[in-house]
Amino acid sequence: MARILPVSAFQFIIISSLLSSFSMILVSGEDHEFMKPMDPELFGLKKEKLTHFRVYWHDIVDGPSPTAVTVVQPLSNSSQTKFGMIRMIDNQLTLGPESSSKLLGRAQGFYASASQEDLSLLMAQNLAFVQGKYNGSTITLMGRNSLTNKVRELSVIGGSGLFRFARGYALLTTQSFNASKSDDAVVEYNIYVLHY
Ligand SMILES: *[C@@H]1O[C@H](CO)[C@@H](O)[C@H](O)[C@H]1NC(C)=O
Ligand SMILES: *[C@@H]1O[C@H](CO)[C@@H](O)[C@H](O)[C@H]1NC(C)=O
Ligand SMILES: *[C@@H]1O[C@H](CO)[C@@H](O)[C@H](O)[C@H]1NC(C)=O
Repeated sequence: MARILPVSAFQFIIISSLLSSFSMILVSGEDHEFMKPMDPELFGLKKEKLTHFRVYWHDIVDGPSPTAVTVVQPLSNSSQTKFGMIRMIDNQLTLGPESSSKLLGRAQGFYASASQEDLSLLMAQNLAFVQGKYNGSTITLMGRNSLTNKVRELSVIGGSGLFRFARGYALLTTQSFNASKSDDAVVEYNIYVLHY
């Protein structure tokens, strides 16, 4: 049978002050916060803006200075869809469709042939801008590029710099394509981005 020991008021104060100083030690030893609520306005996050960017993406596979390099060959050369192929890109983004047009940034990432049935790519790339106020900011795109469709859609899954918290989508249409030059292509990207 449990016996309840009589505790005097004095003992109670001693015990509780020991406990509270112990818990203060615990608290001060644990003062690394791992989360706290923030006021978005302190971060300049006031009104979300919608911006449309139109850039031309140059996929140069052939020639002396390619910007798209096959780093993994398809599993089988008889695969019509080049399933398994991975190409690393550092493609120019320009103002107009001509390669001599003003450079706005670079698309860095990779695309991989991800379908055994049709010509469909998994694309993962950062659009790194180099001009004006967007210099140094990036938009991250990811998605499925089904090459047989006239218009393809990728997701804006985030960004950095002026594109922090970005979301949106990009519509891709092929501007020119040269099958006799290992599929060099110029693709128009219309990107709709919600950002702050
Ligand atoms: C496919 O062709 C490329 C280029 O000719 C060659 O390097 C590669 O080994 C071939 N792959 C297979 C699986 O035969
Ligand atoms: C963009 O930023 C880089 C690095 O800060 C700088 O070297 C370059 O001159 C800038 N370009 C333009 C066009 O402002
Ligand atoms: C495609 O590439 C070939 C080989 O370099 C070139 O002769 C031809 O002019 C190109 N065609 C177009 C439409 O750019």
